[in-house]
Amino acid sequence: MKIQIKAPATSANLGPGFDALGLALDLWNETNVTPAESFSVQVTGEGAGRLTSGKNNLIVRAAQRLAERASIVKGRHIGLPLQPFHMECVNQIPLSSGMGSSSAAIVTGLLAGNALLGNPFGREEILNLASEMEGHPDNVAPALMGGLVVSMVEEGEVIARRIPIAENVHITIALPDFYLPTKQARAALPRRVSRKDAVHNISRAALVVEALRIGDLDLLGKAMTDKLHQPYRLKLIPGAAQAMNAAKEAGANAVALSGAGPSVVAFSTGEAGVGEAMKRAYEAEGVEARIFRLGVASRGAEIQKPYTDFTEGTESVHK
Ligand code: HSE
Repeated sequence: MKIQIKAPATSANLGPGFDALGLALDLWNETNVTPAESFSVQVTGEGAGRLTSGKNNLIVRAAQRLAERASIVKGRHIGLPLQPFHMECVNQIPLSSGMGSSSAAIVTGLLAGNALLGNPFGREEILNLASEMEGHPDNVAPALMGGLVVSMVEEGEVIARRIPIAENVHITIALPDFYLPTKQARAALPRRVSRKDAVHNISRAALVVEALRIGDLDLLGKAMTDKLHQPYRLKLIPGAAQAMNAAKEAGANAVALSGAGPSVVAFSTGEAGVGEAMKRAYEAEGVEARIFRLGVASRGAEIQKPYTDFTEGTESVHK
């Protein structure tokens, strides 16, 4: 059995929605999985020569995690071996970028493992496993469901809903050539926050969702500010604060760090030189940057053959 899986990039947080909001982007990793004697990985595109091959690869680890979970029946470990496989990955999502490459790998591995084991799990269990592996649901939920997704975790269970969004939103991401591991970007955050900062984010996160839903980019610009993570992370990324300012000066309505960074995401009604402005701002600080102009991915990760619709059963609206 040969399995083909596509998984999209994602931009998490969207400013104030730390660990809760995420948007699937029309930039994809495609993986062909073929049963083999041992685990092996061949990568072309992003991550070629850098991603781990063999059983330590994140896709393989996710498939193994699913097999382990499927092995536990009523608290007993019945042992369900996962058939080793060879993977050919054609990747468009840059690594360590704030664009959801690890979430794409995790959902790809979980979908592959599930298919190889005869689909023991439904989408909700796969989403729970993905969030458990990633540590938070805001990238993996849109990676599985597509579109704008609001998610929360309640006693290990992810509750996620997809919100339809307006079509007049242009997304530009500037990715600096600068390595910031998510672990380091999370370690930079304070353990406690003030009530004032919490209220700042709660109110704005709700309005970011409404602004994207109705396509009100002025409202998005007012709401997309953050007190919980960006102030701490921007200090770690040379040029990021300048790139955010440059995007706004070039006409972007709203800007945020994409995920934990180091990329910056800008929302605008047209392209209007926003990408070039961000690139110049990074370069002025001595950092090269790549620009991505992206649409929203209206579908999440899916198995091409056989086909499974992971957007079913949610309150989703397909564009
Ligand atoms: N919500 C996560 C963070 C996204 O900001 O750390 C990156 O994994």
